[in-house]
Amino acid sequence: MAQVFHRSMNAVSRIMVFGLPLLFMGSVLGGSIIYRSGYITGRGETVDQPVPFSHLHHVGQLGIDCRYCHTSVESSSFAGIPPTKTCMNCHQQMWAGAEMLNPIRESYKQNKSVPWERVHNLPDYVYFNHSIHVAKGVGCVSCHGQVDQMPLMYQSKSLLMEWCLKCHRNPEPNLRPASEVTSMTFKPADYVNPETGKKENPETGKPFTQAELGKLMKDKNHVRNALTLTSCSICHR
Ligand code: HEC
Ligand code: HEC
Ligand code: HEC
Ligand code: HEC
Ligand code: HEC
Repeated sequence: MAQVFHRSMNAVSRIMVFGLPLLFMGSVLGGSIIYRSGYITGRGETVDQPVPFSHLHHVGQLGIDCRYCHTSVESSSFAGIPPTKTCMNCHQQMWAGAEMLNPIRESYKQNKSVPWERVHNLPDYVYFNHSIHVAKGVGCVSCHGQVDQMPLMYQSKSLLMEWCLKCHRNPEPNLRPASEVTSMTFKPADYVNPETGKKENPETGKPFTQAELGKLMKDKNHVRNALTLTSCSICHR
């Protein structure tokens, strides 16, 4: 009897049996790599702005505190982008004729805000709030990276849900005293124990480690447990 299937079909069926699942796994894996890549999340990319504002110069070199410009970060869900007046406090005198600052002077004259492009942008169905993170001692650097070293602003973390959840499950490695949230250089060993006035943990006699400081701040600031902080309704309201 003649063979129903030609011998070469063996190879085809082998590909069907072993190849397709591999192909499927490959595309899932590939998909998740693309999903996490900077191309989709916007991580690491700078954005064209009307004026090339440098956090490196203003924060890293001049030492201006974040809250001088992002005035509502402690009190509201939004950190806020500074109005032109804030720039003019200095640039009415400094670099007053520089061409680079034309859009700033124009905006000031015409009383119109500078059309800054957003760098970070969560989808509308996610609720985020700056003030609670700041009040509970999560530093800007934990979510925005070394802003003091950025000639141009970029998004340093993925801002994906898994990134939020990783910290909500275990915030201790990212907790510091609320007075240090805007510092880009704070180290746990710098922490001065208010009870002893010394840079040491009375329990160990040595400077604080992040693990010890994180635990202390978690208790002090009444940070809730992982179960509460990972419930869907915290971020999807
Ligand atoms: C002198 C004013 C000034 C200071 C000080 C300042 N910023 Fe900014 N910041 C700006 C301006 C203007 C923008 C909008 C232009 C841009 O994105 O670069 C901005 C943008 C940002 C953004 C991106 C906003 C977006 O669109 O998503 C972040 C994050 C940010 N700043 C964090 C910080 C942090 C953290 C500090 C302190 C370590 C700080 N800034 C200090 C003026 C300032
Ligand atoms: C507290 C004073 C102060 C404020 C507020 C301030 N600047 Fe500046 N800015 C400076 C100084 C000083 C320099 C010069 C830095 C240098 O030469 O190293 C500068 C430089 C600049 C430059 C030249 C490029 C550079 O970074 O070297 C630009 C552009 C600029 N500022 C934009 C802005 C904008 C936009 C704002 C408002 C969001 C602003 N500045 C707010 C003090 C300030
Ligand atoms: C827990 C993480 C986290 C911390 C801590 C944090 N940010 Fe943000 N920040 C974000 C996210 C997420 C966004 C995007 C919000 C959105 O798209 O609605 C953002 C947006 C911003 C923006 C754009 C304007 C706005 O309000 O949406 C600025 C400016 C900013 N942050 C500054 C700061 C400064 C300054 C600090 C420290 C005092 C800080 N952030 C601390 C996560 C954080
Ligand atoms: C580096 C740590 C960290 C990251 C990253 C982080 N959070 Fe938080 N978040 C906290 C801490 C700590 C609290 C305060 C918890 C408490 O008060 O019990 C908090 C509280 C919140 C609250 C307030 C909950 C309430 O009931 O009022 C919201 C909303 C929130 N986070 C959303 C987000 C979102 C959305 C992201 C990601 C875009 C994010 N967080 C990323 C640490 C973080
Ligand atoms: C700490 C904040 C936070 C919590 C808690 C949280 N999410 Fe999210 N979620 C986000 C953020 C931020 C995004 C948008 C970024 C992204 O797509 O990863 C998101 C996106 C999503 C999306 C769309 C994702 C996609 O692939 O398009 C779904 C669905 C979702 N969340 C469901 C849930 C469910 C179900 C829970 C509870 C088990 C939950 N989330 C808890 C922050 C959170």
